[in-house]
Amino acid sequence: GQVLGIEGTAWNLSAAVFDDDLITLRSSPYIPPHGGIHPREAAQHHASVMKEVISDALADAGEITGVAFSQGPGLGPCLRTVATAARSLALSLDVPLIGVNHCVAHIEIGRFATGYTDPIVLYASGANTQVLGYLNGRYRIFGETLDIGIGNGLDKFARHHNLPHPGGPAIEEFAKEGSYIPLPYTVKGMDLAFSGLISAAKEADAPLPDVCYSLQETAFAMCVEVTERALAHTGKDEVILVGGVGVNGRMQEMLAAMCEERGAAFAVPERKYMGDNGAMIAYTGRVMLASGQTIPISESRVNPGYRSDQVEVGWRSDTGS
Ligand code: ATP
Ligand code: FE2
Repeated sequence: GQVLGIEGTAWNLSAAVFDDDLITLRSSPYIPPHGGIHPREAAQHHASVMKEVISDALADAGEITGVAFSQGPGLGPCLRTVATAARSLALSLDVPLIGVNHCVAHIEIGRFATGYTDPIVLYASGANTQVLGYLNGRYRIFGETLDIGIGNGLDKFARHHNLPHPGGPAIEEFAKEGSYIPLPYTVKGMDLAFSGLISAAKEADAPLPDVCYSLQETAFAMCVEVTERALAHTGKDEVILVGGVGVNGRMQEMLAAMCEERGAAFAVPERKYMGDNGAMIAYTGRVMLASGQTIPISESRVNPGYRSDQVEVGWRSDTGS
């Protein structure tokens, strides 16, 4: 059956319908007029486009057998706006409600899109930077940022230089003309930290392309190091890259090189599945529905701090390697 998925944890209000493959996908991004994302303003944006985005996604779809929504992690006001819409839709269509963990959805659509069954996942987005892998029924977090997400760090640096939001694409362009200057590299055990690097990059006394290049090289090398150690530690032999920062060509190149050296397979999902999107919620919701992981309305409270390893992955029967 077809499942409707609604995503709206942060900047993108997006709805999609998934059957065996993607049926429809509609999105309305929120672009902050100045500065970073203000949670209540983003939630207001989501509310104002909710009807149109969902109607568009449903227009070319068939009978809906479940409604899935991103239950967390994310910005509280945004999560609540999406959850309210999802509950009323599930009630009015008289179909089950599925609460999807946003991070798990990034992973699941990544597995679907690459065809990889048991990968190490580098999840690099605005608010999150994590290295994960499946083990005994959960997506374990092997390493993660101890302070800010890599994308939010890039966006802060871009804002400092009055570059357009989101900052990642602009930094990637400048970096193509840059050469290397040393910046602080912080990997602690399996974890990472970006705020020292971002501060140093803001203060660096060098041409902007050089700082952009070196910021990318340093931040991405940190992510690659932790990913490589997770590969070595688990003995898995596949790597996928998910999240909005993952569209970066240089990050893909560096991960591909590391995987090639280690004899691991590496793949990146199609671009439409990388950043926040409703398709990943619809897809994961459909898989969860098939394994009976639905929730009653009374248990559908949002969870802004929802972690991937809190989710029982009942739809995978393997144990992971
Ligand atoms: P999450 O809630 O999972 O943390 P998110 O809400 O931050 O996700 P994503 O769409 O996954 O959203 O990622 C957005 C981030 O991706 C932004 O910080 C943006 O700067 C970054 N980004 C987009 N394109 C690029 C690029 N080409 N290079 C680097 N970063 C990029
Ligand atoms: Fe995301």
